[in-house]
Amino acid sequence: MSKIQALAYIVVQSAEPARWREFGERVLGMAAYDAPDGGVQLKMDERAFRIAVLPGADDRYLYSGWEATDERAFEQAAAALDRAGASLRMGSADEAARRAFKRLLSFVDPSGNRHELAWGYSGARAPFVSPLGVSGFKTGAQGMGHTVLPAAQHFDATVALFRQTLGMGLSDVFNFKPAPDAPVIRIHFLHGASGRHHSLALAEMPHPAGCVHAMVEVNSMTDVGRAYDRREKLGVKLMATLGQHENDRMTSFYMMTPGNFALEYGWGGIDVDPARWQPTETKQVSIWGHDFSVGFR
Ligand SMILES: [Fe+2]
Repeated sequence: MSKIQALAYIVVQSAEPARWREFGERVLGMAAYDAPDGGVQLKMDERAFRIAVLPGADDRYLYSGWEATDERAFEQAAAALDRAGASLRMGSADEAARRAFKRLLSFVDPSGNRHELAWGYSGARAPFVSPLGVSGFKTGAQGMGHTVLPAAQHFDATVALFRQTLGMGLSDVFNFKPAPDAPVIRIHFLHGASGRHHSLALAEMPHPAGCVHAMVEVNSMTDVGRAYDRREKLGVKLMATLGQHENDRMTSFYMMTPGNFALEYGWGGIDVDPARWQPTETKQVSIWGHDFSVGFR
């Protein structure tokens, strides 16, 4: 049983948090609030926030915030992370409250990605009202979406931390060959207890901003198309054209965030049953579309 339920939230750093406010409200259709620390919080469901933006020196991804399956899983994860030598640090009550949780710990994976594990949501549960009429984001037990993290140097040890130490399940493997003579880049897609096809993917490549991409899922294809139009109108850089992934069947497009990493905005991803799912091996990024070359132009 996975000790991780789903991706609860992400934390990013910004030299200019107001840019995330504008991106969140005018492109993503989320609700933005000023945080007491000078940052911005983006709300996309009944929870207080799912994206926390902290003021800082530069624009980058800081932490993936995982939600423990239950309190026992939180405690088991703490012990297992400590044994695994993952720079475990138990958070104070104050630190947990800042993320709107009862308990919080932080750890670092072998590739240097920084993570938090939280248990017991303690914030307000108020209705989400999209300023742009987005019909809604698919969250709930499946969390905010997924994140794809760089694991260039210590790929196997990083995968082992999430699969063996934290109990996540393998959904899919993609041995990506960007060009016929290029070395294979391994990407492993992992699910938590929630059934989202993948809450985490680890990619054997570096990324200067600390995240290859994060993904949010909306409740209708119309929401995806309308977000695409807003992106175009506001001149937000397209990172991949509209397309449908082979492994999770997500129909989506990718755009650049103010955090120097991409955000996938999609609809229609499949679920997996963690008790029965047999890992697949995908042979292509997408069934159709998803031209990533636009991001290099
Ligand atoms: Fe994705």
